[in-house]
Amino acid sequence: MSDNVVPAVVNLDLEGPTISRHVYGHFAEHLGRCIYGGFYVGEDADIPNEGGIRLDVVEALRALDIPNLRWPGGCFADEYHWRDGIGPKDERPVMVNTHWGGVEENNHFGTHEFMALCELLGTEPYISGNVGSGTVQEMSEWVEYLTREGDSPMVRLRKANGREEPWKVKYWGLGNETWGCGGNMSAEHYANEARRYATYCRDYGDNKLYRIAAGASDFSYAWTETLMQQLSHLGCQRVERPLYQAVSVHYYTFAGNWDDKGSATAFDADQYYTTILKAARTDELLTGHANVMDCYDPQKEIGIVLDEWGTWWNVEPGTNPGFLYQQNTMRDALVASLHFDIFHRHADRLVMANIAQTVNVLQAMILTDPDSEALVLTPTYHVFEMNKGHQDAASLRVDTPAGLPSREVDGQALSTVSVSASRKDDAVLFSLSNLDAEEAVEVELDLRGGSVGKTASRILAAEALQAHNTPEAPDAVAPREYDGVSVTGKGLRVRLPAHSFVTVAAPVA
Ligand code: AHR
Repeated sequence: MSDNVVPAVVNLDLEGPTISRHVYGHFAEHLGRCIYGGFYVGEDADIPNEGGIRLDVVEALRALDIPNLRWPGGCFADEYHWRDGIGPKDERPVMVNTHWGGVEENNHFGTHEFMALCELLGTEPYISGNVGSGTVQEMSEWVEYLTREGDSPMVRLRKANGREEPWKVKYWGLGNETWGCGGNMSAEHYANEARRYATYCRDYGDNKLYRIAAGASDFSYAWTETLMQQLSHLGCQRVERPLYQAVSVHYYTFAGNWDDKGSATAFDADQYYTTILKAARTDELLTGHANVMDCYDPQKEIGIVLDEWGTWWNVEPGTNPGFLYQQNTMRDALVASLHFDIFHRHADRLVMANIAQTVNVLQAMILTDPDSEALVLTPTYHVFEMNKGHQDAASLRVDTPAGLPSREVDGQALSTVSVSASRKDDAVLFSLSNLDAEEAVEVELDLRGGSVGKTASRILAAEALQAHNTPEAPDAVAPREYDGVSVTGKGLRVRLPAHSFVTVAAPVA
């Protein structure tokens, strides 16, 4: 086997844990132009809309089969008071969005608008409640307003605002980053708060909440340990009747440091590899948090929710620093494809992940032009679309007996090839990333326990890692059909150009 051929063994008949479709989840915060100008333009806008929601954005996102959408933050969630966002729009109070640019928030996009957006997208809502500056009563009444049927004060209020039937809401966040912008709490203090808030977030009728405790930043395993420990009070034993069903974690990828994260588009090869190394550490991150959880919950009943992930670059020159608007290149696409391979490998514990954020903020799927009706789909959008067949599929283990090609980056070994596979309804989907900036590589898929039929392959690639889409060149980075896959005696051989992402779908017999 020559150096640039990587053997990879996949047993098509040995199905692993199901990849939750929710790891393809999304996040929309009242931040910059994510909601206003992104998802929502108001009923009077010239841009085609339904109830103020941009229909071109909805149409583009429907192609991704978005499983859930987290809202209203982020840091914004812990200063959001839901009652400000219901009722006649001209009577809704105005507030200051202190976290994000200090701009005024007119509350025109509130609970009803968010639920309408979820219905248009065909997605499940994930509501992030206010622990930092809210009250238990406020959160409890929001759950009642949304999900209770019959007659009660909040039900009457909902009906007065035009919604007769309760909505179905499963995913409920108990605050956000409570170690920081969500209240600067200690882990011990927050664990008590999480239990208190969870107690009063009731299940009404057949609406069963899945309560998500606000978790750690990065590798702060002690935070997860405290949440797990105080959930059970039982030490290293099985968690009985948990008050919350998952703990979250946040992890962002950038090439520099928090003060200077690097440019989204002007970067060199060293910064590229540093970025990929940082993204690859998501594997270590999930393993570390899962190991802590295994001690308290070996049955894996409590899930990990990585409800903020993705690249975070310096804002585009000339834009509001508080709006977190950044371009999105082929590098971002590879960060996304690498994350998904890691998510697929952690299907036993990772129940949800939400990219930050869907429109106009951080590693977005869609960038809308502030001065026109134009929108562009980013390279990251295309990875989500190419990979959507993994949603709710059985993970398939990929073994690489000869190892993976690697290079030293910042004193650590970085594998420059990443592969994952899944099986659903007698079809298999392979995702393959060549993370090397310059060298092409081939992956020899040694398929056992079944054989594959005619393949359908697609590639996302660009001459330069810095390539990105703009209104003038919307398809500079876009998927195309790919003929670099051949049938071999063992299975398939896939040629991967430098810095490219390829998917191969095939029926299995
Ligand atoms: O996604 C942007 C911000 O990053 C979120 O508001 C916050 O939770 C995190 O620090």
